[in-house]
Amino acid sequence: MSINKIPITETAATKNYSMTPPLFNMAGKVIAITGGGAGIGYATASLLLSQGAHVAISDINPSSLSSASKTLTPFYQHGASLLCTQVDVRNRSQVDSWITEITSHFNAPLDGAANLAGVIPKCINIERVEDLNDAEWQFVLDVNITGVMQCMRAQIPAMREKGSIVNASSIAGLGGFPKNAAYTVAKHGVIGLTKTAAKEVGDRQIRVNCIAPGIIDTEMHRESVRIRGQEGDYKIQIPRKGHAEEVAALIVWLMCDASQYITGTVQIIDGGIMA
Ligand SMILES: NC(=O)c1ccc[n+]([C@@H]2O[C@H](COP(=O)([O-])OP(=O)(O)OC[C@H]3O[C@@H](n4cnc5c(N)ncnc54)[C@H](O)[C@@H]3O)[C@@H](O)[C@H]2O)c1
Repeated sequence: MSINKIPITETAATKNYSMTPPLFNMAGKVIAITGGGAGIGYATASLLLSQGAHVAISDINPSSLSSASKTLTPFYQHGASLLCTQVDVRNRSQVDSWITEITSHFNAPLDGAANLAGVIPKCINIERVEDLNDAEWQFVLDVNITGVMQCMRAQIPAMREKGSIVNASSIAGLGGFPKNAAYTVAKHGVIGLTKTAAKEVGDRQIRVNCIAPGIIDTEMHRESVRIRGQEGDYKIQIPRKGHAEEVAALIVWLMCDASQYITGTVQIIDGGIMA
C-alpha cells in the first residue's frame, strides 16, 4: 500500500534516518542566507557560525555586508567559516552565480538556505488598494516574491538530499493588512511557493518551510513605524516585540535534523498576535 508511490510500511529505505543525537548539529553544514547583512538574516548567520556551519551571506547593501564580515567574526566556533557576496535577489544571473560560487568555495553542495531578503514599500500604511502606485507595487513583488523564487530555482539543484530551505513569509501572509497590499500579496505568495516546492522535492527528502514573523525589532520594522508615525495597534499576547535572534533560532531549528519530518509548513513566530 502506498501514498504518492511512497511505501508507508517501514522498509530499509524509509528507515534510512537517524533520530539519535546530535539532531541539532549544524557543524560543517553549508548554508546560504539572503538578506544576511542585517536583521533576521544577520542573526541567523551569527547563530549558524556559533554552531560551526559554513555560512554564505548575500545582501544588496555592500556596507552592511562589509560590516557583517567583521562583526560576525567573534561568533565563529567549531571550524565555522563565512563567505560574503553582494547579490540583488531580483537579478537572476547574480543569484545563479552566487549559488555556484558557494558550492565551489566550500567544495560541497548546499545543506540549507534561508531566503530572508525583503523590503517594505515607502507607501506602507498610506496607500489603499485604489491608490497603489505601479513602481512600489512592482518593487515589493520583485524582491519579496520573485527574489525568493529565483533563489529557490538556483538552490534546489545545488542542494544535497535532506537539505532544508526556509523562506520569509510574515503574518501578513496569513490575512489581509490594510494599506499594505503589495507586501501582503508577496508574503501570501511566499507561502504558495513554499508549499508547491515542498511537494516537488520531497522525493529527495529536501524540506521547504516558511516562517511567519510578527513584529520583530529590526530596521524593517523601525522603518515601518517611521512611515506610520507610530507603532501599529497589535494585540501581542507576549507583550513585547520579538528579537531577530528568536527568529534565527526558529530558522536554524527548521534547518537541523530535529525537524526532519516537517515540510510545507508555515511557522508563526509572533508572540501570539495571530492566536
Ligand atoms: N521585522 C519584521 O517585523 C518582519 C516581520 C515579518 C516578516 N519579516 C520578513 O523577514 C525578512 C527579514 O526581515 P528583517 O526584519 O530582517 O529586515 P531588514 O530590513 O532588517 O533586513 C533585510 C535585508 O534584506 C536586504 N535586501 C533588501 N533588498 C534586497 C535585494 N533586492 N537583494 C538582496 N538583499 C536585499 C537588505 O539590504 C537588508 O539587509 C524579510 O523578508 C521580511 O519581510 C520581517
